[in-house]
Amino acid sequence: MKKLLNTILSLSLLCFSFGSFAEEAKGPSLFDRMGGEKVAKQIVADVWANHTANPIVKARFAKSDPQYVKGKVYEIFAMATGAKVEYTGKSMEDTHAGMNISEMEFNAVVDDVMAALAKNNIAAQEQNEVLAILWSVRPAIVNPHITRKALTSEAK
Ligand code: HEM
Repeated sequence: MKKLLNTILSLSLLCFSFGSFAEEAKGPSLFDRMGGEKVAKQIVADVWANHTANPIVKARFAKSDPQYVKGKVYEIFAMATGAKVEYTGKSMEDTHAGMNISEMEFNAVVDDVMAALAKNNIAAQEQNEVLAILWSVRPAIVNPHITRKALTSEAK
């Protein structure tokens, strides 16, 4: 019995140390590597400025509350890049479904984010990681069955 308990104890110790090694091996989060909260908030402010100046998407945000949207975008950006921040907004599907968002608009939004990263001196490695995250969200945002009518009239 004692031997069994000892085996269980050493196995759990082994698992515990593996766990912490794995944590260490992961290193600092993408959020921290980009400079943490201050930089992330500046990136979000710059993304908003880019969207509201971008002829492809600015009409989309004309009726939005800047403080509200920036707050939610900060939360989702922080959470997705590994910060201990909870996203309290709506799901990506619920938010964007029915907006008939085209691939061109999605690409324009991605371009705005990439420009904001460059402006904040985010290195190429971190830029690529953010790009991969944005790309992973694409199916929840873009309507692949968008109609010509929606593209030319209803969307704006
Ligand atoms: C990866 C890409 C995107 C992400 C991560 C994202 C994220 C978000 C978030 C977190 C919100 C706030 C949700 C809430 O109200 O709780 C939001 C709102 C919004 N998004 Fe996106 N979005 C993306 C792409 C787009 C695109 C391509 C468009 C269209 C050009 C768009 C248009 C909007 C609009 C108009 C709102 C504001 C809705 C309102 O005023 O309540 N988004 N988005």
